[in-house]
Amino acid sequence: MDKNFTLTVLPGDGIGPEVMKEVRKVMKWLEDKRGFHFTLHEDDIGGAAYDRYGMPLADETLEKCKASHAVIMGSVGGPKWDNVDYNKRPEAGLLRLRKEMGLFANLRPALVFDALVEASSLKPEIVKGLDILIVRELTGGVYFGEPRGIEDLGNGQRRGVNTQVYETYEIERVGRVAFDLARKRKNKVTSCEKANVMESGKLWREDITALHQAEASDVTLEHMYADNCAMQLLRNPSQFDVIVTDNLFGDILSDEASMLTGSLGMLPSASLGTAGKPGVYEPVHGSAPDIAGQGKANPLATILSFAMALRYSLDCGVEASEIENAVQRVLNKGIRTLDIANNQGCAISTSAMGDALIIELNA
Ligand code: IPM
Ligand code: MG
Repeated sequence: MDKNFTLTVLPGDGIGPEVMKEVRKVMKWLEDKRGFHFTLHEDDIGGAAYDRYGMPLADETLEKCKASHAVIMGSVGGPKWDNVDYNKRPEAGLLRLRKEMGLFANLRPALVFDALVEASSLKPEIVKGLDILIVRELTGGVYFGEPRGIEDLGNGQRRGVNTQVYETYEIERVGRVAFDLARKRKNKVTSCEKANVMESGKLWREDITALHQAEASDVTLEHMYADNCAMQLLRNPSQFDVIVTDNLFGDILSDEASMLTGSLGMLPSASLGTAGKPGVYEPVHGSAPDIAGQGKANPLATILSFAMALRYSLDCGVEASEIENAVQRVLNKGIRTLDIANNQGCAISTSAMGDALIIELNA
């Protein structure tokens, strides 16, 4: 099999560069031991890109991303850019990347590793074995809807406006992704909106129902209001398999689901568009400016994101599983970075975690 791939690597801000360094060790291992050859384009996104190009995602960077098999990203943002204009903030670079690459489906697994059950703030019996996949719509809804803006009303008052808007094709294509993924899992989809108060939610529910009847009646479908879903995630999270929801609810529910696992430093994500087009892979955690540059960050979320890239964009599921299994074994041995350590004194550094993983991959 041809294992030549072009990847764009965007370390970004904060802890992004240091965790990405550990991903490179895994890339090198695949080249040395598994016959891969990667052509890597490294570039900036977020605040780092703002500092270099004057905007958080340069056109030339976007072109490189589009011409790659996959994009591996670190994280964006930090206090340094707090006063930058809204449309040039680090986050705006990430939103542009998602939009221009057509990445309408964001896959956020919340998986509780057996070795980390104790790290959750919920009781072990509630989270043990938990395996949820949130499929978040990523290029529509209130994040991109028009009109938007802050208007001066001239009487000492201002008006802030954002628009929640969805069209049928947007709901159908992300729904289809959710049903397809459910078939490879426990065959259940929970669709979340606020159909009780929002027209866009009513449309969402009707379109998902119609899609289910037309294409996916073999999958169990359940509808749930998003606020109830937030509550059920804490009450009885194992009732869920795949959750499909809009951009804003998905943002919130995926943060909540991630904390069920007790380890934001462990969670990967994949953002996918049309089949055959490159995806973007990034950890769910942010840039963590408070610990940046100190070698404290957990590189496993970004390494697991790279594993998702192998599976979903490079069609190398075998190697993806190899990496995921090696992560399990590292955890089973009690090897921990600070974020998941019970005994803080025993925590190892970012680069030591990368090295430990390579040792496990070679074992
Ligand atoms: C996420 C983040 C982003 C979002 C920010 C950084 C723009 O919170 O990926 O969940 O809101 O989508
Ligand atoms: Mg978020």
